Amino acid sequence: MTQTSLGESVVQKELHAQAQNNGVAANITQTQPLWLLAEVTYRCPLHCAFCYNPTDYDKHTQNELTTEQWIQALRDARKMGAIQLGISGGEPLLRDDIEDIVIEARKLGYYSNLITSGVGLTEKRIQAFKEGGLDHIQLSMHDITEEINNFITNTKTFELKKKVAAMIKNHGYPMVLNVVIHRYNIGHIKEILEMAEALGADYVELANTQYYGWSLVNRSQLMPLKEQIDEAERITNEFREKVGNKMKIFFVVPDYFGDRPKKCMNGWGEVFMIVTANGDVLPCHSARVLPNMAFPNVREKGLEYAWKESPAFNKYRGTAWMKGPCVTCPEKMNDLGGCRCQAFLLTGDAEAADPVCSLSPHHHLIEKAIEDSKNPVIANQPIIFRTDKNSKKYVAGDKERIAEFHALP
Ligand code: FES
Repeated sequence: MTQTSLGESVVQKELHAQAQNNGVAANITQTQPLWLLAEVTYRCPLHCAFCYNPTDYDKHTQNELTTEQWIQALRDARKMGAIQLGISGGEPLLRDDIEDIVIEARKLGYYSNLITSGVGLTEKRIQAFKEGGLDHIQLSMHDITEEINNFITNTKTFELKKKVAAMIKNHGYPMVLNVVIHRYNIGHIKEILEMAEALGADYVELANTQYYGWSLVNRSQLMPLKEQIDEAERITNEFREKVGNKMKIFFVVPDYFGDRPKKCMNGWGEVFMIVTANGDVLPCHSARVLPNMAFPNVREKGLEYAWKESPAFNKYRGTAWMKGPCVTCPEKMNDLGGCRCQAFLLTGDAEAADPVCSLSPHHHLIEKAIEDSKNPVIANQPIIFRTDKNSKKYVAGDKERIAEFHALP
């Protein structure tokens, strides 16, 4: 899975607006799940160093939901008010029933978005998606150089991605490129934007790496310098001026270099519902890292129970769970204490303030991470790629690398 800002990304916000314009949304309230993200498989032909799928995904790869079970989940979520459907993974195109899911999504009135690496997208399939009513395809791109593209994904996919981009355009889809930004490509922002323009992109999301899953394991290797991020943003602003409305460019500022935490997922259990490959229902992509939480599964009690009644969805809704400094903070309604997963991953306490907040007593952990990324001894360690073999090691409890990053207590 590629990265966006966790929660409703800027491109997603745009989609949301489009869906409303299409008359899909009616009587929406904030108590309904507006977004259903279907992580239909954890299988993936790419091995991205920054993937935010869980490092132990291998234990969730068995027992993928069937087509019928996905269709039921779509129906149930739509009844509850969901209007946006993201079809993601892993690489969703490794399943051969995405066409069926798309057709059902159209029937139900979803605004549907396929989030793909492009591997497996053929003329035949894209034609079927078009006929089936898929609204949107978001393609991940990695760099302008073959070398970095192939390195960071640990595959040879550079040429293929360009072909797929052209195919998406030829079929009349708006072209949405997602580029995860890290140390290896941040120096190429201008060229990446030029490539996007040449490919006819309508939207480009420059998603600075956020540190969850595999990107947390590789944090020191991937994190750019603050000066590089500032320069990348400056170039982006300049480019935006130049191209105007022809290509919408979003620059997602990384948490570690902001001083306020984000309202992660637009609030826990507020608008997002994620169904994973094996049917677990989560309020956010990373939620399974949190301790002592039992997440519901669609095979057992269904989505309505998951959203309304399950202890997991209610645990961090609102502000009742907060303690200091969040509980008395005047910003608490704006950021809801930040990200629960990040708080736990960095401090060992899921109820702590998100350490990216400058008021957090753990903020030094962020400063330390930034310092570590400048330390060649740490930053030059080999990258651990997202592979089944490495995931099996995590499942077996080999957390050495994570411990080194103080990412777990
Ligand atoms: Fe932010 Fe889980 S990733 S709450």
